[in-house]
Amino acid sequence: MAVTSMGLIIACLTFAGLPVHAANPDVWDSLVPEHALAPARAEKNPLSSTPETIERGKAIFLGKGFCAACHGRDGKGLTGIPPGRFENEPRIFTNPTWQQSRTDGELMWVLRNGSAGTAMAPFIPLVLTEDEAWQVIAYIRQFAIP
Ligand code: HEC
Repeated sequence: MAVTSMGLIIACLTFAGLPVHAANPDVWDSLVPEHALAPARAEKNPLSSTPETIERGKAIFLGKGFCAACHGRDGKGLTGIPPGRFENEPRIFTNPTWQQSRTDGELMWVLRNGSAGTAMAPFIPLVLTEDEAWQVIAYIRQFAIP
């Protein structure tokens, strides 16, 4: 219940149009700061991408993680919002260039630390365990498959 409320609060604050500042204007630049980049890139997903792992990740993405509220059920980001509403749009996960430009470890860093100054909050440990975060990352990788 607490988790659900937090997701709702995040979503409401965002949709209420509170200022969302651009921490990083270029979608292709890693969101991980320079000093943390090498270890983040090297960190491997400890879970293998089995149908069970992906299924669990999907349930989190659509459910308690609230990821779909911003990234879209189809991973294509928000639709129907006026252009310029967000300086940093929720990432579009279906873009193959984006998929290739990130390691799982970099995505994990964002789930642990958030992206400062944007609507992307840190989700670990308040909403997700480390294990659940790796599951949802395995699911995000499915958006790379056309
Ligand atoms: C309230 C809106 C919101 C919610 C909810 C949300 N995100 Fe995000 N997410 C964003 C925004 C905005 C960015 C882009 C941040 C930036 O540009 O600095 C982002 C970025 C990311 C990134 C980093 C992408 C990159 O380029 O490295 C990952 C990974 C991510 N989100 C995963 C998730 C997952 C998994 C969930 C659910 C557990 C989730 N997000 C929930 C808004 C959201």
